[in-house]
Amino acid sequence: MDQSYSIGVFDSGVGGTTVLKHIRGMLPNENIIYFGDNGNAPYGDREREEIQKFSVNIADFLVENRCKAIVIACNTATAAAVDVIREKYSTIPVIGVIEPGARMATSTTKNNKIGVIGTLFTVSTGAYQKEIKKYSPDAEVYQVGCKPFCPMIEAGWETFEDRDEILKTHIDQLPKDIDTLVLGCTHYPIIENEIRKIFKGKIVDPALESSRELMNKLEEKNLLREHQVGKLEFYVSGEIEKFKSVAEKFLGEKVERIAKIKL
Ligand code: DGL
Repeated sequence: MDQSYSIGVFDSGVGGTTVLKHIRGMLPNENIIYFGDNGNAPYGDREREEIQKFSVNIADFLVENRCKAIVIACNTATAAAVDVIREKYSTIPVIGVIEPGARMATSTTKNNKIGVIGTLFTVSTGAYQKEIKKYSPDAEVYQVGCKPFCPMIEAGWETFEDRDEILKTHIDQLPKDIDTLVLGCTHYPIIENEIRKIFKGKIVDPALESSRELMNKLEEKNLLREHQVGKLEFYVSGEIEKFKSVAEKFLGEKVERIAKIKL
């Protein structure tokens, strides 16, 4: 393995592009392989074993395709499979989004009252609570599982007439005095502007800190690629067109190399 290898990024669908955008901004020389498992999305309604199986298969694919690091750009897959993937690929950096998100949340909050929105699976594991309490044992963490958000974002958020109502019903379940809200699903930054209309406190998107962690790990191992401009390759397990339109709009760049594959 050397600097010329790629960075592998994956999610259940288009959500991980919110992490990809930060990685591209921070590490423009890196080649990146992005896998969106939209044929199996949403992960958030599935069992741990299933999510683990999908995640390990994708990690295998990324390593077979010469990746020097794996970014699990999905909270649900991080909660279900980060330990398994780290154990299997112990020699390469495996970055999850929950630890960095928890770190950011504890350094952002002033009143130690933190809200987390995520998938039903992520919320059921209490992964954010555990990580946040490592940094700040007295923190009060309130979570809401938002089952409809991911499928709506995958399909194109603005096509749903009742979207504002659905968003409000979920966010209103959080106590009014939280001062920080963690977007605990990588799909949610795509609708961050809509969330901001309802929640007026600080919003934490774990993507930024996750990308920093990736950069630091690659630097430590002397694996950063320099000079050339990095290329981006996409693979999906489901529909290409929907993925492309949501991803291009969010990334602000054309998705040129994309293929559908079955793992
Ligand atoms: N983007 C994902 C997350 O961060 C998964 C959404 C889903 O597939 O349910 O949790």
